[in-house]
Amino acid sequence: MITDESIQLVKDTARVEDIVGDYVNLRRRGQNMLGLCPFHNEKTPSFNVNPSRNIYKCFGCGEGGDPIKFLMTLEQLTYPDAIRKIAAKYNIQLEEKEVSQEVKEERQEKESLILVNEFAQQWYADQLYNTDEGKSIGLSYFKSRGFRRDVMEKFGLGFAPNSRNGLYKAALASGYKEEQLDKLGLIRNKKDFFWDRVMFTIHNLSGKPIAFAGRILKKDVKAPKYVNSPESEIYHKSDVLYGLHQARGMVRKLDNVYMVEGYTDVISLHQHGIENVVATSGTSLTSGQARLVKRQTENVTLLYDGDKAGIKAALRGVDVLLIEGLNVRVVILPDGEDPDSYMQKVGTTAFEEYLTKKRRDFLFFKADLLLEEAGDDVAARSDAIRSSIATLALVEDPLKRAGYLQQFTGRLGLEESLLVNLVNQAVADRREEVKKEQDREQRRRERNARAENAPGLPPVRPQRPQRPNKKDIPPPPTEDRWAGMQEPGFAGAEPPPAGNDDYAPDWGGMDDGGWAGMQEPGFDDSGGIEIPPPFIDGQVPEMPGKDPLKEALLFTGHTFQEQDLVKILIVHGSKLHDEETNTSIAGFLTANTADILGDFDSEQYRKVAVLVADYVRQHQQGPAPEWYLNHPEENIRQMAVSATLSPHTMSPNWQEKYKVYLRQKHPTENHKLYAENFLRIFRMEKIDRKCKDNIRKIKEYEKGDDHKKLVLHMKLQMKLDEMRKALAAELGTVVLGK
Ligand code: CTP
Ligand code: MN
Repeated sequence: MITDESIQLVKDTARVEDIVGDYVNLRRRGQNMLGLCPFHNEKTPSFNVNPSRNIYKCFGCGEGGDPIKFLMTLEQLTYPDAIRKIAAKYNIQLEEKEVSQEVKEERQEKESLILVNEFAQQWYADQLYNTDEGKSIGLSYFKSRGFRRDVMEKFGLGFAPNSRNGLYKAALASGYKEEQLDKLGLIRNKKDFFWDRVMFTIHNLSGKPIAFAGRILKKDVKAPKYVNSPESEIYHKSDVLYGLHQARGMVRKLDNVYMVEGYTDVISLHQHGIENVVATSGTSLTSGQARLVKRQTENVTLLYDGDKAGIKAALRGVDVLLIEGLNVRVVILPDGEDPDSYMQKVGTTAFEEYLTKKRRDFLFFKADLLLEEAGDDVAARSDAIRSSIATLALVEDPLKRAGYLQQFTGRLGLEESLLVNLVNQAVADRREEVKKEQDREQRRRERNARAENAPGLPPVRPQRPQRPNKKDIPPPPTEDRWAGMQEPGFAGAEPPPAGNDDYAPDWGGMDDGGWAGMQEPGFDDSGGIEIPPPFIDGQVPEMPGKDPLKEALLFTGHTFQEQDLVKILIVHGSKLHDEETNTSIAGFLTANTADILGDFDSEQYRKVAVLVADYVRQHQQGPAPEWYLNHPEENIRQMAVSATLSPHTMSPNWQEKYKVYLRQKHPTENHKLYAENFLRIFRMEKIDRKCKDNIRKIKEYEKGDDHKKLVLHMKLQMKLDEMRKALAAELGTVVLGK
């Protein structure tokens, strides 16, 4: 082991500009130096070196640290190896001291465990390729799955025969200790742990076997499909990605990694030329795994099965990856396929086409999924958007976040200012939460320390030490941007001297987190959005209730149409619809919407419709505009003012959908036809929506066993279908399949 004095000497000697300069072309820029970042692809330099503090930082990707960290990250060296490399560069003679007996033993133990696993891997491979049982069962199975010999060897595949002690005996005969076989989970109670299974080797980053997985071949047996090695000194499941060793080169080269769920998915994709792929091995993605890939690339594409479990896993994975600062995209395969089966089915070209066509940024993946589930339900839609925004808030980089948000706003058709506000809130909430968690952790540590010093008291159960995460709490704007970028617990440089402001790269307006100018002027931070009075410029009218998102969403639903109905009532309601029967437009409209009043989204427009129906019943005619203009309720008076000011707005998506029927004369000249067509479309929309809801319910009841309810809803469906058909015939539109 290198002595502390030697390490100090290396640290004191190493100049960041020398070490970095060996890899990066640096140009002077004032007191600092600038170059193209070696950790991410860029065309304009954002990689800064600060000689006076002996540190570097990339303001593009966030990588930063001292010279040692630079070598460790870039060359994937261990700490002592980085020290050795620097020592060699500066001709420093390193003093090595005897490692403590304990450390030595631990290291030897790990090395010898790996040797045992190497033996086991060879033994399983030997069984697979060179025994009758292995060949006829294992090898033929792998062949039936289309695996090539070279790929099988690359991944260390093997076969565990049916005998319960083959490996046990062979290992003892070769001088391996029973205790170690036991520790590795290769045997249990003097019997082989894996038997009658095909074997997969799990490697560490440098390609050493650290664990195994065995897949059962028999179908319809109760035993689990895969059996995995237990955790051991050399195998910590949550910090391992299957295939990372084999994928590493390509991942770096392509600067992107596909994450799949299964062992066979990795192997199959490799065989078909997609080598930048790793597997989480069926567990949910851990932050350890996310950090592991981050050392290779920042760009992750989750490639999950199209079933419910796959989609759920993808949703969870997204958040874990975002928290570690990765860029995440998602591809969901067709239902029933996994990457292996789909690749075998369609081949590399079509597979890659599918990936390019179907991959989506995490935000749209999540939002689309949740919004589709939510259907027309306003509360569920608003929850879906909030949940997506909570995920967006995990993106630490304010520029990236703003970019996503802009696209997102465009998709949803909501006011950008509203969403900006929600994102800001979510970011603040998250910071608060992380802060609380850290405070709790701190208190726990203090309690534990006290307990240790106070014998007699039972110690508080020790918590797993949590690595403080620099990403969790973004620094307040005034803080030194270099601060906190050292890896915590890293034996690197001391904290940079405070007050050295001259080293501040031009960070433009980013001090506020990049949100400058995103706030709409006149935006009220304290309570929801400022809602304009009804109808004016077609904007959102004041509504009761204090959830601006829900209110905004209402207006993307049916509220707009309900607003139109009220507008027609106000402007044309008192005119005649049918001279013979002396029915007013208001009478006609209220009579024909009475059965769907329950389907109104807007409480206030429903209320107007009810009031008008009452009026018609009492007076046998529709109320004149003055009735609304002088109504005791402020709300209604305002609607009347707006309606008389701008009488002809039509829901924009109607114009798209029912073009033919709106190409008609000006409504003031033709209020009768206008009201009739309006009513048809209005009813059609409500019935359509009811159909959708009802079909969803039918599907649910089909899964359950409430037969009565199922029949009820099916009858309702028939009725709705009839109504739809009749209306469609009147409208002249074709009723498409439900
Ligand atoms: N898995 C596991 N234990 C199980 C089932 C699954 O550890 N009992 C893990 C394995 O890593 C497996 C992954 O979850 O590769 C995905 O499981 P699954 O999709 O069921 O298996 P596949 O990998 O598709 O395997 P195959 O194609 O051979 O069915
Ligand atoms: Mn599979």
